[in-house]
Amino acid sequence: MQPDVTAFFDQHTSTLSYLVADPESGRAAIIDPVLDFDAKSGRTATTSADRIIEMVRQRSLQVDWLLETHVHADHISAAPYLKAALGGQIGIGVDVSLVQEHFAPLFGLDADCSRCGAEFDRLFADGDVFGIGRLQARAWATPGHTPACVSYLIGNAVFVGDALFMPDYGTARCDFPGGSPAVLHRSIRRLLDLPLDTRLFTAHDYQPQGRPLAYESTVAEQRAHNIHVREGISAEQFIALRTERDRSLALPALMLPAVQVNIRAGAFPPAGADGRRYLRIPVDSI
Ligand SMILES: [Fe+2]
Repeated sequence: MQPDVTAFFDQHTSTLSYLVADPESGRAAIIDPVLDFDAKSGRTATTSADRIIEMVRQRSLQVDWLLETHVHADHISAAPYLKAALGGQIGIGVDVSLVQEHFAPLFGLDADCSRCGAEFDRLFADGDVFGIGRLQARAWATPGHTPACVSYLIGNAVFVGDALFMPDYGTARCDFPGGSPAVLHRSIRRLLDLPLDTRLFTAHDYQPQGRPLAYESTVAEQRAHNIHVREGISAEQFIALRTERDRSLALPALMLPAVQVNIRAGAFPPAGADGRRYLRIPVDSI
């Protein structure tokens, strides 16, 4: 049994979200949904998430899962919005506690962040199996970009998050707290040991050289062509290349707003006495 996969692209953050459905039962999972956020005005919008809701309703799907591949630093999660509209449980890798542990103090969230992942409905350990209708899904810990990254194996499709991008863009940065190019390389080797025709779906596509959007590859294509990890590039070469490249990267534009919300499973801080919700910007702290 193979899943139906529909991709949704958010142009502002180059993020791919996926709707993954069991064609027989109509049960579905949504992976890495985006809440639109304009940092200049502080305004949120649900244009991206509403496109997914519309598709779910059109196809009369029943959403069981809202899955995060990791705590994203480039966009705010729309998981709570989709959960309110469609139901489903919000899941992430169990090591999200490490990310909470690091970032809760930075945002002064000591009293408002569990540091044990309690904000999420389901914490996946490496190898955990769950169902989407009759489809069997499995979570694999694939850390390196962050310490808590997971990939979701669903039928012959794997949603790899930021572990791999399209072959012409390579891999994701490993310089976030708890990230490690050596660890990412091990995670990627594990993914690339899957059968050659396994379908790999990435969480971002930055469309290098203006090429058209692409988000699906195979293990065979990645092994032959990935500019950072194709066959013939050693672990040491990858680590050197990744470390060098990461030195030149600026922080993602939405990192500060996104991380403080995403470590709380996409929940904004509660409104204060004035009825407003505020995000925090730590000054001179990172
Ligand atoms: Fe990421």
